[in-house]
Amino acid sequence: MVQILVTGRDGTEHAVKAEAGLSLMEAIRDNGLDELLALCGGCCSCATCHVYVEEGHAIPPLSDDENDLLDSSDHRNGRSRLSCQIPLTAQLDGLRVTIAPED
Ligand code: FES
Repeated sequence: MVQILVTGRDGTEHAVKAEAGLSLMEAIRDNGLDELLALCGGCCSCATCHVYVEEGHAIPPLSDDENDLLDSSDHRNGRSRLSCQIPLTAQLDGLRVTIAPED
């Protein structure tokens, strides 16, 4: 199991545990944090799974599609990622993420 620490929009931090191989979006959604809408179900076409990720972890680089979609958000910053595009691996154990404001 991989543990991720997720800060919701109200500032509350939640410890989320999930199997490696799931996406970060699936881990957050399946643990009851329904403010992460993930409307497209993870096919990189909605940007409602936008999170800010802590630096210093081995996270795969942005794809062109993810980059373009993040550009549609008013809340993009240098730590922005679409959580459906980040597979959970053992190396991400302890990662902190914050759910971005709703667009
Ligand atoms: S769930 Fe739609 S882009 Fe991630």
